[in-house]
Amino acid sequence: MQPEVFIPESLPPPSPGKARYGVIGSPIAHSLSPAMQLAGFQTLGIPAEYLRIEIPADGLARAVPKLLEAGMQGWNCTLPHKNEMFRLVTRRDSSAAEAQSVNTVRVESGQLHGFSTDAAGWEAAIHEAWHVQTTNLRILILGCGGVGQTLARHLTRSGCGSLTLLNRHPQRAKELALELQPIAAGRFPIRAIPWKPTRLAPALAETDLLVNATSLGLHEGDAWPLPPDFLQPPLRVYDTIYRKNLTPWIRAARQRGCPAEDGLGMLLHQGLLSLEIWTGKKAPRAEMEQALGQAAERKN
Ligand SMILES: NC(=O)c1ccc[n+]([C@@H]2O[C@H](COP(=O)([O-])OP(=O)(O)OC[C@H]3O[C@@H](n4cnc5c(N)ncnc54)[C@H](OP(=O)(O)O)[C@@H]3O)[C@@H](O)[C@H]2O)c1
Repeated sequence: MQPEVFIPESLPPPSPGKARYGVIGSPIAHSLSPAMQLAGFQTLGIPAEYLRIEIPADGLARAVPKLLEAGMQGWNCTLPHKNEMFRLVTRRDSSAAEAQSVNTVRVESGQLHGFSTDAAGWEAAIHEAWHVQTTNLRILILGCGGVGQTLARHLTRSGCGSLTLLNRHPQRAKELALELQPIAAGRFPIRAIPWKPTRLAPALAETDLLVNATSLGLHEGDAWPLPPDFLQPPLRVYDTIYRKNLTPWIRAARQRGCPAEDGLGMLLHQGLLSLEIWTGKKAPRAEMEQALGQAAERKN
């Protein structure tokens, strides 16, 4: 059965006695957040609904007043709206200011307060998977779109061993490196390199953690971010993408002996932080993780 998807113009009236939250994006039908967040609200004993709301790329500014009229008290924000949401909020938490992006909105007296839980969620997932601190790692990020930029900005402030940036369209990686180099100056090196095998292979030899922040792997038949031959232990591999049976690329990395994780842990941790922002209560991790695992049909 297809999950129910709403549009801002046709949100039903709020259910009496229930808080109203949701996730906005496009496409949104397959978001796993409703299962995870509803489990969280339920375990905390907070009557709430959490709706999937489809908003086209150019429709966010028009949609926000409708979300408020419909009684939304907060929402998660995913592709393609995180940057535009950053521009639209009235207050920005330091996490949003750092990321220049918003993935969590809390409505306060009709005003929008924006947060970004992506980088903290990613960091928690890395720490949980491998018991390592990102501050000690030489990190290479493939992909300087929204999520790659958020992680790079966070790492620049929190620190890491070194940061190497690559993007299919190289100008994006170059511009990000130019933005971040002055902030990291004297602490650790940041560089952008072209996405070419001859440059990647030596860069990987000096990398502890490789992050796929491209959208490659989201769909069956996608090209791999880079050939699995390039993956040699002890390189750790983190894919921000999550899929039912992991991405083929992550499975190949594991077969080659590289510790490798996909983005389900990041999704869990960013979601725990969102629920805490909305409720002010500790998120019930076990119940939310179980609901997320079920929604993702995760078997491993
Ligand atoms: N696990 C989580 O909680 C979580 C949270 C957020 C996002 N994500 C995942 O992160 C992925 C990226 O999200 P985003 O918000 O950063 O998206 P985005 O802003 O649209 O950026 C997409 C990135 O993928 C690159 N790309 C797309 N097609 C490519 C191709 N054929 N070859 C090489 N690079 C390609 C783009 O490069 P160009 O700049 O050259 O186009 C860009 O760097 C999403 O697919 C999402 O699943 C996961």
